[in-house]
Amino acid sequence: MKIGEFNSKFRSDLTGLYTVEEISSLFKVVLEEFLSFDITKFYLNRDYTLSKIELDKINKFANELKKGKPYQYIIGETRFYNYKFYVNESVLIPRIETEGLVDWVLNENKNSKINVIDICSGSGCIAIVMKMKRNKWDISALEINKKAIDLAKHNSSRNSVNINYIHADIFTWNNFNEIDIIVSNPPYVAESEKKAMKSNVLNFEPEKSIFVKDEEPLTFYKRIFDISKLKLKSGGLLYFEINPQFKSDLISLSRKYSFSNYELKKDIFKRNRYIKFQK
Ligand SMILES: C[S@@+](CC[C@H](N)C(=O)[O-])C[C@H]1O[C@@H](n2cnc3c(N)ncnc32)[C@H](O)[C@@H]1O
Repeated sequence: MKIGEFNSKFRSDLTGLYTVEEISSLFKVVLEEFLSFDITKFYLNRDYTLSKIELDKINKFANELKKGKPYQYIIGETRFYNYKFYVNESVLIPRIETEGLVDWVLNENKNSKINVIDICSGSGCIAIVMKMKRNKWDISALEINKKAIDLAKHNSSRNSVNINYIHADIFTWNNFNEIDIIVSNPPYVAESEKKAMKSNVLNFEPEKSIFVKDEEPLTFYKRIFDISKLKLKSGGLLYFEINPQFKSDLISLSRKYSFSNYELKKDIFKRNRYIKFQK
């Protein structure tokens, strides 16, 4: 089969499951990951005949996509902050929105030696990028899922940084040192929001990474406030990614603790997605 013919078949097979723009991006993944082509080379070589091995690989990729599996899980990696990270079904696929959280932390904090912890670290993307950009920081990353910790360790090696990984449940772990900055993108989607979500997220991404009970959507934030009360240094900072729906409730909750100051920030889609508190 010629590559141009494969492109037409790929597009018709995926129509209805993905938008036209998504299919174009996925076809670029086919070109780059499996054929070492870029889009220009494709347009110049539409008559290129695919070998059996190439065709087998890209048909397998297309079949997995048809089942709704996110392409990052199929190829086993993604980009975050323009660095490559391994992913598998034990971790949330790092989102572009989360890059904004990391940007905020890095822009406001320069390279003095401080203790930083990323709570609910998943693939390790937040902790690892912070360490790559601020090599003097002592960075810990806490995560309940052992498989996620194992993957995050591979990501640390891949990007040549040292992170102190803590395999623990945030609701029972108490063994913190004094902390200068806490960063967290915890689970924050209420279970009742499931019906509005895409099936590729629901069927493939780990539930525990995403959902919280409707009755207590701020449970992770509350726990982190409790920890901050004891272990965050005076003047220390807390940076959270948030569900815009619970913004006001979170601000009310913060008033019950010693956090009178807060600052909200919008993501690239102009939604209030980050909040900072200072102790
Ligand atoms: C929204 S994901 C964020 C992952 C990563 N920080 C990112 O931004 O892509 C939340 C993470 O919290 C972890 N988690 C869930 N419950 C936890 C708990 N009780 N203690 C520690 N981590 C937990 C999940 O396993 C998941 O990796």
